[in-house]
Amino acid sequence: MINLKIDGIEILVADNTKLIDAAQMVGVEIPSMCHNNALPHFTSCMVCMVKDAVTGRLIPSCSSIAAEGQQIITKDIEVVAARKMALELLLSEHYGDCEAPCTTACPAHMDIPGMNRALAAGNADGALEIVLQKIALPSILGFICPAPCEGVCRRKPVDRTVNICVLKRFASDNGLVDLNKFRTNRLVGKRVGIVGAGVAGLTAAFYLSLNGAEVHVFEKKSMPGGEITDTDFNGFLPEKAVLRDFNRIVEAGAVFHFNTHITSKEIGSIIETYDAVIIAVGRFCDEMREWPVAVDSDGFVVASDDYFCSGNVFVVGSSVRPTRLAIRIAAQAWQAFHSVSKFLLAEPHSHQSVCFNSSYGKTGADHVLSWKKSDMVSNQVEFKTGFVGNEAKQEALRCLHCDCYKPNNCKLRIYASEYGARQEKQRPLLKNKPHRQCDSENIIFEPVKCIKCGICVRLARKYDVLPGFTFSGRGFDSVITIPFGADLKSAVGDYGKMFAEACPTGAISFL
Ligand code: SF4
Ligand code: SF4
Ligand code: SF4
Ligand code: FES
Repeated sequence: MINLKIDGIEILVADNTKLIDAAQMVGVEIPSMCHNNALPHFTSCMVCMVKDAVTGRLIPSCSSIAAEGQQIITKDIEVVAARKMALELLLSEHYGDCEAPCTTACPAHMDIPGMNRALAAGNADGALEIVLQKIALPSILGFICPAPCEGVCRRKPVDRTVNICVLKRFASDNGLVDLNKFRTNRLVGKRVGIVGAGVAGLTAAFYLSLNGAEVHVFEKKSMPGGEITDTDFNGFLPEKAVLRDFNRIVEAGAVFHFNTHITSKEIGSIIETYDAVIIAVGRFCDEMREWPVAVDSDGFVVASDDYFCSGNVFVVGSSVRPTRLAIRIAAQAWQAFHSVSKFLLAEPHSHQSVCFNSSYGKTGADHVLSWKKSDMVSNQVEFKTGFVGNEAKQEALRCLHCDCYKPNNCKLRIYASEYGARQEKQRPLLKNKPHRQCDSENIIFEPVKCIKCGICVRLARKYDVLPGFTFSGRGFDSVITIPFGADLKSAVGDYGKMFAEACPTGAISFL
């Protein structure tokens, strides 16, 4: 038996125990990418570095055997720096979009390729379910959003952008969603007053109601929509679109009080009556001068990053952040909903951690196009009418699915986020032209996302899968390939799922 200390904790382990396993015994999880306990060892990623406190050396914990009297430090500045460097080396050869460019350009961060996949499968209900996770007003925004997502669509340079905005409207008009799927009782017993039934007020009302809060919305006009109903969007925004979204919010449980003008006296009583109040009245107006909000020299209400103003009051919309883009206001309101929820539950405010996002950058279009050469170029849609019948499916089929299929469980992305690793802006030319191979079981192989951990090669050997995967080339030029030019289906045999689950990145994944 071997006696050693890990982060100061004494532990007795059997002979030949690896440090990564010894650490786990004392509850310390060490990051690893090329390590797989079920397979013969192969040290390559160097993400699992730890420090030997006696010698001061950094060593890979997945291949170092515990030694008598050793004192191991699993995390300090040096260890963190070494892991970060190892990750950045892996990223320097890595090409891919974690999230599709359309999703990152959308202020609401909607899963656009996910919506397109559902629509391409003829599943408008599933598409609407995806849309409603981030956008409470898809019918309205389907008419008035200037669609920053479409400006970066990778399909644009080839023929024309995928018509994301009108597809979203199609999902809203044709999809049926049981709102109970979204409901939680997190905010049951909490009362929220919202002043203003414009884009911000409606959005906040939808998500707060779905989470169990009792929501009352006060609006001076006789109908919902706020400023968007004052603007003539070239006559494009029909009342039925406003009502479709509004009815969904009523179904979610929000109670609306129209023709209710809120004076300085009434705002005081709303603030006293409700656990939280959201002021969402659009641009700063004269009546607000008497309200308990501070205004800066530019005439904007002073609020923190999480839309907190003072006491139990939050402010969202164009009175606090100057924007005329409705989708930006909707995105702010979605974040304000989270801030208000935290406030109501007395949860500490935590800044959202930044998630690493690999990107092909501008060169991506050519590469992505090589994945799927769809000849389908649908007719230009008549904007006012929108897609009818099968047209939406045809349009959704034009999407190239630029997103990665392991955005949430790719170890490279998870660790890059955790260690703040960055991808070089100027990267060398690709050694390998990006391409995707897909088999009949919907397993995908994308060699440019491979970190050469060799897990797939060792798995193929272990399970006698022929031809499996192999290393070809030497040193830095080595790549993982399928031998003899075989196709993916024969490379993975009956083990596609196992390969996809074992691969630490999106190089082998499920569609
Ligand atoms: S493999 Fe990982 S890091 Fe690369 S694009 Fe996919 S999710 Fe992002
Ligand atoms: S092709 Fe599809 S996934 Fe790619 S940017 Fe366009 S809509 Fe988004
Ligand atoms: S494709 Fe194979 S070598 Fe590349 S990251 Fe996945 S498992 Fe590792
Ligand atoms: S997990 Fe140790 S070198 Fe990759």
